[in-house]
Amino acid sequence: MPHTFVIFGASGDLTSRKLIPALYNLRRKGRLPEDAKIVGVSRTPFSHEDWRKELTETTAKFTGDLFDAALWEEFSQSIYYQPGDIGQDEDFAKLAAFLDELEGGEPSTRVYYLSTAPRFYGQACERLGKAGLADETNGERRVVIEKPFGTDGASARELNKTVHCAFDEHQVYRIDHYLGKETVQNLMVLRFANTIFEPVWNRNYIDHVQITVAEEVEVGKRAGYYDSAGVVRDMFQNHILQLLMITAMEAPIRYAADPVRDEKVKVLQAVRTMSADEVKTSTMRGQYRGYTAEEGVDARSRTATFAAMKLSIDNWRWQGVPFYLRSGKAMSCRTTQIVIQFREPPHMLFDDGPRSVSEANRLVIQVQPNEGIQMHFETKVPDQGMKMRQTDLDFNYQREFRGTMPEAYERLLLDALEGDASLFARADEVEAAWAICDPILHAWAERDRPTLYMYDPGFWGPEESTEWMYQEGRQWFDIC
Ligand code: BG6
Repeated sequence: MPHTFVIFGASGDLTSRKLIPALYNLRRKGRLPEDAKIVGVSRTPFSHEDWRKELTETTAKFTGDLFDAALWEEFSQSIYYQPGDIGQDEDFAKLAAFLDELEGGEPSTRVYYLSTAPRFYGQACERLGKAGLADETNGERRVVIEKPFGTDGASARELNKTVHCAFDEHQVYRIDHYLGKETVQNLMVLRFANTIFEPVWNRNYIDHVQITVAEEVEVGKRAGYYDSAGVVRDMFQNHILQLLMITAMEAPIRYAADPVRDEKVKVLQAVRTMSADEVKTSTMRGQYRGYTAEEGVDARSRTATFAAMKLSIDNWRWQGVPFYLRSGKAMSCRTTQIVIQFREPPHMLFDDGPRSVSEANRLVIQVQPNEGIQMHFETKVPDQGMKMRQTDLDFNYQREFRGTMPEAYERLLLDALEGDASLFARADEVEAAWAICDPILHAWAERDRPTLYMYDPGFWGPEESTEWMYQEGRQWFDIC
């Protein structure tokens, strides 16, 4: 079957920065089906040649040393352009005719990638349906939908309904690029392909879990979008909750889309919904100084660029184990890490001064950069009686496997072409994620909302968040 990858929003940033470089890299590695064709759709009146020329420049820029001009020249011959407006029925009819001609009327696998502004997701699906482009009688038809999927629970449910009028759920691939990261997939391998972690991966041995997604960058050019979204919609509802699900889920019965997603959804369903009062004590929000001076940001904006929160998972495995999540822009450094803080031994034989929980065993999963895993444990200091010090076992991807880590989009685009939805979010998953975020967003918008703390760029968020953690009897691991 021919494979056709249709990108709506072809002239956008995501297409040139991520999608085309990922497809080119897949071809370079010999992973893209030989017959794969790429069709860009957007309103700009390009010819096939114009678009290829433009992509030559951007792909060279974004693939760097991996760019091979001869290979690109050959690959670019399978790239086409079809002008079209998502608001016009007749443009979808023209696209249908163009795709039929390109595929010679053969049964084919088609992936429609919606890389447009989010407000067009619903209409695009509706018109794909109306034009018969979602119909699977002549091959497989899939739609990939970028984040954000809705702006709250109600709009996500509405969007799911609209999408489902044209596509069945098995055809819908809601993308979250964090699931395409090697280290995020490795978290499943760490937990479910080893025996030593599972027996201790629960409330009996774990004191708490910390998930930090810190970014050094400020909002920059995306200020217009960001100011209406804020950190909870931008990072927590999707990426951070994905990390939480994979950390906390039960072992699926097998590695396949539905068993994996069934277990992930159960985690979200077990997360305790916060009351407005709990939002005040279990969340903290901040904004970096200078944010309101960014172009495109309202000068009186109260949008949070930093948030920290404590979630509780009400199930047998995790009862009583807090999950502390935090994320922010303009922080000390770029790092995404998951820290599993174990409990102290029940009885300490060696009298080595007062101890705190942060001196007990700790597993640090470094999602990015410096991808790897560290296990911290106590060791006897030589020649000093029974004095102890924390040391670690250190696994580093780069040291162990060499070579560069693939971009998250490579794996995800290939999975979408091959029909494996394991690393994509299901309808109930996005809705359950919103059910956790909605009460927080509501309480933050109320008149007696919690304080918005200010922080200087280059720090780990507001000082109050460090204080808040001390009051919890714990401390953040600020590791760059
Ligand atoms: C995006 C957010 O989804 O993820 C951005 O919209 C954020 O605000 C980005 O910067 C972070 O992705 P990564 O892969 O750089 O951690």
